[in-house]
Amino acid sequence: MKILLGADHGGFELKEQLKSILKSEGYEIEDAGNLIYDAKDDYPDFAIAVAKKIANNEAEKGIIICGSGVGASIAANKIKGVRACVCHDTYSAKQGVTHDNMNVLCLGGRIVGVEVAKELALGFAGSVFSNEERHKRRLAKVLALE
Ligand code: RB5
Repeated sequence: MKILLGADHGGFELKEQLKSILKSEGYEIEDAGNLIYDAKDDYPDFAIAVAKKIANNEAEKGIIICGSGVGASIAANKIKGVRACVCHDTYSAKQGVTHDNMNVLCLGGRIVGVEVAKELALGFAGSVFSNEERHKRRLAKVLALE
């Protein structure tokens, strides 16, 4: 599976660490930037770059990292077809996919360390939407708003 990564300066270091981890776990990675550490960069640039690629079906899932994960999720959710959420617990990182078909995980590089982020990313990446009737019905009500 291909996973898109994106991060501003608040998430750059964690993005680089997750990139190596996910590659070693066999995932194909595309890095939508920032490709260098720039203390003055802006999270929407990378969140939206990832979100647009998800919306264009260039990858099934994305992980966006900013300082808190909050700005990244607000920005990414502006793009139709993107279901992004900050998850700093593994239950939500998995259930967000199985129940809600979350396709972008947002992390705070100033909130979680690399080991927790690894568990979150692998839980997210390894989960699939249940396709159960009740989950499809609820998701349809959300998608009707787009
Ligand atoms: C950047 O300093 C910080 O505001 C940003 O990374 C993010 O945390 C916003 O939600």
